[in-house]
Amino acid sequence: MKLFQHTPVLLQEVIHALNLKSGDNVIDGTIGGGGHAEAILQATTPNGKLLGIDLDPDAIQAAKRTLREYKDRFILEQGSFADIKLICEANASYMQNICAILLDLGVSSYQFENKERGFSFQATGPLDMRFWQSDDPKNLKENRALQTLSAERIINTWSEAMLAKIFKEYGEERYARLISRAIINERKRIRIETTKQLADIVKAVYMRKSRARQNWRIHPATRTFQALRIAVNDELHTLETALPQAVEILKVGGRLAVISFHSLEDRIVKHFFQKESKDCLCPSFFPACRCQHAARLKIITKKPITSSENEQRANPRSRSAKLRVALKIK
Ligand SMILES: C[S@@+](CC[C@H](N)C(=O)[O-])C[C@H]1O[C@@H](n2cnc3c(N)ncnc32)[C@H](O)[C@@H]1O
Repeated sequence: MKLFQHTPVLLQEVIHALNLKSGDNVIDGTIGGGGHAEAILQATTPNGKLLGIDLDPDAIQAAKRTLREYKDRFILEQGSFADIKLICEANASYMQNICAILLDLGVSSYQFENKERGFSFQATGPLDMRFWQSDDPKNLKENRALQTLSAERIINTWSEAMLAKIFKEYGEERYARLISRAIINERKRIRIETTKQLADIVKAVYMRKSRARQNWRIHPATRTFQALRIAVNDELHTLETALPQAVEILKVGGRLAVISFHSLEDRIVKHFFQKESKDCLCPSFFPACRCQHAARLKIITKKPITSSENEQRANPRSRSAKLRVALKIK
């Protein structure tokens, strides 16, 4: 079995920004390998508790191993942070008074590098990209909403227009139309089942179009793969669903920290924080407030915190990370 390896990004920055104290209770909504969670448990020693959530059963197993010495100070739930309020309520007898919530979005290195998961164009694997491969026999006994939409299904069944739409909107891919046309042509010939097949199709489009052939700053398939992953896991909608719930379950004085890895997610977090830190959302030409909106948050990070050069050298994945933190005031 492949080892679950993942280096947590912006680790010191997260711990500092969450302003943790001994005895604080924390939710890590994306526990992954438990790297951030371990530092959180150290910062809240001796009796702070942690509820860790992840969609991926492999992450839950990895976090259980990482945190084993913290025994009864943590509890893990396999599920989506889109259900963070429900999961928190279901564990109310274990912990209440939530002082901090962390969402470290995206894919762990383990998921990315495990070719069976189909997230990467660097290795040949099945086109999957689900955080929870719920049709894996070991998951079928779970009686939960299953994650059945794989990247393979999208690529082989969605219309040309739908494919172009996701490549453009979720990948900001300039050759979105050409790539979707090439996929439709290829799938008339043969089913597209592997990451390599898809990466080759995208690369061929770039070879035809781009003047500076083979001199690309990033691999031509990067944006297409990002778009597909977002669509498979409904990532933007999931984040939009989770943020208001996270604010609701935080205690006043508690902090919410979100690390994002691309501009679409960062924009959602930024706009949500801005909106929730304003007392009135009426257009400026209204003579008086009609919305009665009250600020619930104070923004702690006016600009997102990014990784240092040292961290970027040691962990290139941290280059695109942006950390935003807000304090619940009401
Ligand atoms: C960047 S990793 C987190 C790494 C973690 N902070 C650590 O220190 O090891 C992101 C994790 O979020 C999980 N994830 C993605 N979408 C999720 C969702 N909707 N609900 C719960 N977990 C999710 C992934 O399975 C992955 O394990």
